[in-house]
Amino acid sequence: MKIKYRDLLEKKSNNRKAVLVTAYDYSTASVIEKCRIDIVLVGDSASMTMLGNRSTLEITLDEMITFSKGVRKAIKSPYMIVDMPFMSYQPSKRDAIKNCGRVMKETRCDAVKMEGGRELIDRIKAVIDSGIPVCGHIGMKPQSYKKYGGYPVMGFNEEEAIQIIMDGETLEKAGVEMIIIENTVDLVTKYLKENLRIPVYSIGSGTQSDGQIVVLNDILGLYSDFTPRFIDRYAQLSKVIEDAVNRYSDDVVKSKFPKKKKIPRMAKANFMKMLEKLEAVKQNKR
Ligand code: KIV
Repeated sequence: MKIKYRDLLEKKSNNRKAVLVTAYDYSTASVIEKCRIDIVLVGDSASMTMLGNRSTLEITLDEMITFSKGVRKAIKSPYMIVDMPFMSYQPSKRDAIKNCGRVMKETRCDAVKMEGGRELIDRIKAVIDSGIPVCGHIGMKPQSYKKYGGYPVMGFNEEEAIQIIMDGETLEKAGVEMIIIENTVDLVTKYLKENLRIPVYSIGSGTQSDGQIVVLNDILGLYSDFTPRFIDRYAQLSKVIEDAVNRYSDDVVKSKFPKKKKIPRMAKANFMKMLEKLEAVKQNKR
């Protein structure tokens, strides 16, 4: 059954956790579709997981749309959100509306995600006012990592905690549907969960939230250049893939692949007859 926004609100009011993961392609999303997942995010983390870039800053709007179209074809039940890439909405209200609108139209997602708090509220509100559902993203915002000089945990000092709480409250007032809070101390997350009407989902910000989101590859052990501190590995897919590909390689080298019964076979006599005919055809052409 298709999960609607009101189902997510209901979950929050019944104190039931929502489960969110990222997905970036049709094959993986087809598996996710069969899992107990409420929301799928096509994150701009695709910049690293799919394109091998060093950060989220490099991915383009066109690339995000291509990945999202594949995911959309597989995702029927979960609510689907697409991340707006760096500089697709920051420059102006006009850019924000145009690009978020393009993502909604071309990917048929349920909402877009925009990183930012009060500093970008006019652009976020302009998008909401044009009829586009928005998921906010506050706390440590990866698109600003150059400004922070890395990916710090935030909210330890009073000033930062106040900023993040006020960002959350301002976003709710502007009309965002939900908020993702990243790398922030747990009591700030708890405060927002308890004081906002909209769901607050955590990534690296403790358990006292309305749900959790992770980069799928991190929990599957698939992309291992960098693993965030809060991640638990639920599988080691890189190892599974490596073993499988090496077994395939060995079989090819030993002519054991494909298996005899899977080889398209022709009777030797028919083949010899065909060779005679081939010779005749060649003679006629000479
Ligand atoms: O891009 C991403 O994957 C995210 C996280 C919140 C999961 O924004």
